Amino acid sequence: MNNETLKSIRDAEKESHLEIYSTAKLFESGSWLQNPVKTVVDLLDYFKDYCKLNILDLGCGVGRNCIPIAQEFKKISCNIDCVDILDFAIEELNKNSIDYGVEEEINGIISSIDDFTIKNNHYDLIIAVSALEHINSEIAFTEKLNEIKNGIRKNGIVCLIINSEITEINKYNGQILVPQFEVNLKTQNLSDLLNETFDEWEVIKNTVCKQKYDIPRKDCISDLTTDVVTFVVKK
Ligand SMILES: C[S@@+](CC[C@H](N)C(=O)[O-])C[C@H]1O[C@@H](n2cnc3c(N)ncnc32)[C@H](O)[C@@H]1O
Repeated sequence: MNNETLKSIRDAEKESHLEIYSTAKLFESGSWLQNPVKTVVDLLDYFKDYCKLNILDLGCGVGRNCIPIAQEFKKISCNIDCVDILDFAIEELNKNSIDYGVEEEINGIISSIDDFTIKNNHYDLIIAVSALEHINSEIAFTEKLNEIKNGIRKNGIVCLIINSEITEINKYNGQILVPQFEVNLKTQNLSDLLNETFDEWEVIKNTVCKQKYDIPRKDCISDLTTDVVTFVVKK
């Protein structure tokens, strides 16, 4: 992908999330921000006996997943590094963490996932929900998966939700659009890559679910179809 295409995808992604985050409030009923992702919530039991937790949320948005985690582990020593490329998302995350009483636990970081270096052997849980498909290139994506793997401590968990085989169509006129994702792998290739990278880890969840939803784009609403790959593994 050349620099121009990359920039245009990044701009479209920023614009679309700016619109989404400006119109829906965190945990607002009826919006996609209404609830944390169940797969993430279901993992919290694994950490119930911990007295110290380091967590990383890549592409955290305004806190849909990291804020409920922080609330759950507020009584112990818990730090959640929350990375998002969109400054507006991190500003909202910071406000939300005050509103929900977890500003001590949440550490908002404005950065692309590409530029954020994951410390080796540091985290007990790394989550990335609908975010890794926005890494610069397939090579960088593979490298980041390895960085995620190396960033996890013993018994730690990686929870990835990644879109693959994405198509976008202009809802108004049926025109086929270029999917606005930097990495758009074939589902089988993505599954193979995940299985190879984490080959000796315990698999907690490994599913593919076809989904379809509307997403705002520059001049239209895009009718988006995707295979959502959910991959959860324990070291
Ligand atoms: C679909 S949203 C998901 C947000 C959050 N994970 C959730 O489940 O609510 C994707 C998020 O990833 C962020 N994002 C997109 N590309 C990114 C990149 N290259 N680096 C970091 N964050 C990125 C967007 O700004 C957006 O907040």
